[in-house]
Amino acid sequence: MVTRKFFSVLSSSQFLENKARNWGPKLGATTVIAGETIEEAMEAVRKLNAQGLCATVDHLGEFVHKKEEAVASKDYCIRTLEAIDAYGVDCNLSLKLTSLGLDVDRNLCRDNMLDILAKADELNIFVRIDMEDYAHLDATLELFQELRRSYQNVGPAMQSYLHRAEQDTRSLKGVNLRMMKGAYKESPSVAYQKKPEVDANLLNIIKVHLLNGSYTAVATHDHNIIEEVKTFVREQGIPDDLYEFQMLYGFRTELQAQLVNEGYKVRVYVPFGEDWYGYFMRRLGERPQNIVFAMRGLLSK
Ligand code: FDA
Repeated sequence: MVTRKFFSVLSSSQFLENKARNWGPKLGATTVIAGETIEEAMEAVRKLNAQGLCATVDHLGEFVHKKEEAVASKDYCIRTLEAIDAYGVDCNLSLKLTSLGLDVDRNLCRDNMLDILAKADELNIFVRIDMEDYAHLDATLELFQELRRSYQNVGPAMQSYLHRAEQDTRSLKGVNLRMMKGAYKESPSVAYQKKPEVDANLLNIIKVHLLNGSYTAVATHDHNIIEEVKTFVREQGIPDDLYEFQMLYGFRTELQAQLVNEGYKVRVYVPFGEDWYGYFMRRLGERPQNIVFAMRGLLSK
């Protein structure tokens, strides 16, 4: 059976990555990745906006080991912000702190973030900090708290598979949070391993944050969770401007459209860039059935 672990191994294979780069995004990745350049990403966002969907773009980049790479990544984020403004699209920016140098030098990462947030603030664009593996959790939240002292247009993401997710959510009252199940392989000492527990905790942290009057982005393709959230906000009288749904580009597009037709705010996470390989493999690992979807993309080329 094809497992998450299998795709996780593939996602970190340098050999296969090099091969895949040579093939180009012909593995079916083009259905879930909006191209390799900022312009291609902006065109994809324009099409989403025309369908009533808003977006957040993420320039894919897997590993940053040097200061110059982190600064280049920061410059690219700023160019992306400028493009969002120039195209006049309804779009946020998503990023990962490791791509801005968190593992190289924490203060370098902070300075890069301050530059990005200053530009985003000037252009009135929200910046989402994606959550990475558990090893980066404390550093990410700690840096976020420091950034928030200067800027309000920024918010992190919360993984419901973590035992401490509710406690972290409560400590982030008032912060715009993205809630999702979590995509990394984590140890049982820190994370729930069983799907029912992860699902229950996702609903739990969404409810906690909403009842705290805090903006909540519900990031899932799980129709059961989405239905429960719809019922909850209706029953509790949660205002429409306190939450949104989020899904990945190319995933469950019919459900995205249905939610928009029902009047809900839906934001699509739009990954782009040349480093699409690891992202693509992780998505296959989460749901091996997606391989059928990927093959469809390949065959339609
Ligand atoms: P899950 O994969 O648990 O599926 C639940 C059910 O939904 C399935 O059993 C099936 O019935 C249905 N379903 C799901 N996908 C389907 C499909 N493609 N077609 C048909 N049915 C489908 N993770 C992280 O660690 N850090 C982060 O910053 C982010 N950021 C992020 C942003 C956004 C916008 C999203 C949507 C997700 C993330 N994630 C993430 C990934 C997230 O943590 C999680 O791993 C994936 O979204 C998979 O979990 P789901 O809740 O979507 O459904």
